[in-house]
Amino acid sequence: MQVVIADSAAEVGRIAAAKVASVIRHRPEAVLGLATGSSPLAIYADLADRVHSGRLRVDAVRAFALDEYVGLPLEHPESYHSVIRTVVTEPVGLTPELVNVPDGSAADLDAAADAYERAIRDAGGVDVQILGIGANGHIGFNEPTSSFASRTRIKTLAPQTRADNARFFASPDEVPTHCVTQGLGTILDARQLVLVATGASKADAVHAMVEGPLSSMCPGSALQLHPHAMVVVDEAAAARL
Ligand code: GLP
Repeated sequence: MQVVIADSAAEVGRIAAAKVASVIRHRPEAVLGLATGSSPLAIYADLADRVHSGRLRVDAVRAFALDEYVGLPLEHPESYHSVIRTVVTEPVGLTPELVNVPDGSAADLDAAADAYERAIRDAGGVDVQILGIGANGHIGFNEPTSSFASRTRIKTLAPQTRADNARFFASPDEVPTHCVTQGLGTILDARQLVLVATGASKADAVHAMVEGPLSSMCPGSALQLHPHAMVVVDEAAAARL
């Protein structure tokens, strides 16, 4: 695992975006893995800047998001369908038809999760997966105790994750209780991983991910198994390394 400690949150985004941009430059039809959350926003802003200044073309780039809430209508502003559209697809200028998000409203969620796995495989797999990490060590929505071999499936959200994400909803009760998420096994299949974390609230999770034992209690520690994983953090998130 390559760990980079950057001077600022903006620098974290710039370093991670440079990695993603270099993958796209080598392969214009690259398959990106997209994450939601505040951590990757600086990456998307930097990529948008590169595209709008003519330094990068993304019209052939394909993308798969990590996860989605179960039971939120697609048009709900906090559904990850909406969030990915407004923070990635539109500002970066990805081709909407080439951007995929798991279906959390399907009548048969198990079948939809299996179909998502097949779609990733049929696209040839993910070239570079962007990741954040939850304060409890989750990646995607793989909460503690998730199997390292897990594939896209329904999960129950941990109380801490629901509390952390309550800020996006009118009341904590409105935060969905379940999600569909790529599994840790799915994430580990990506050819490269780029995880970003900033701020003191991530210091424990970053410590457990990088220096802790390989443990399903810290799903992020699965990155220790990956041959091409890059972790980019600011000083505050690196405080316990
Ligand atoms: C969310 C997402 C994760 C994200 C994490 C951290 O619930 N499902 O993909 O990495 O929590 O979010 P943030 O970057 O806002 O701290």
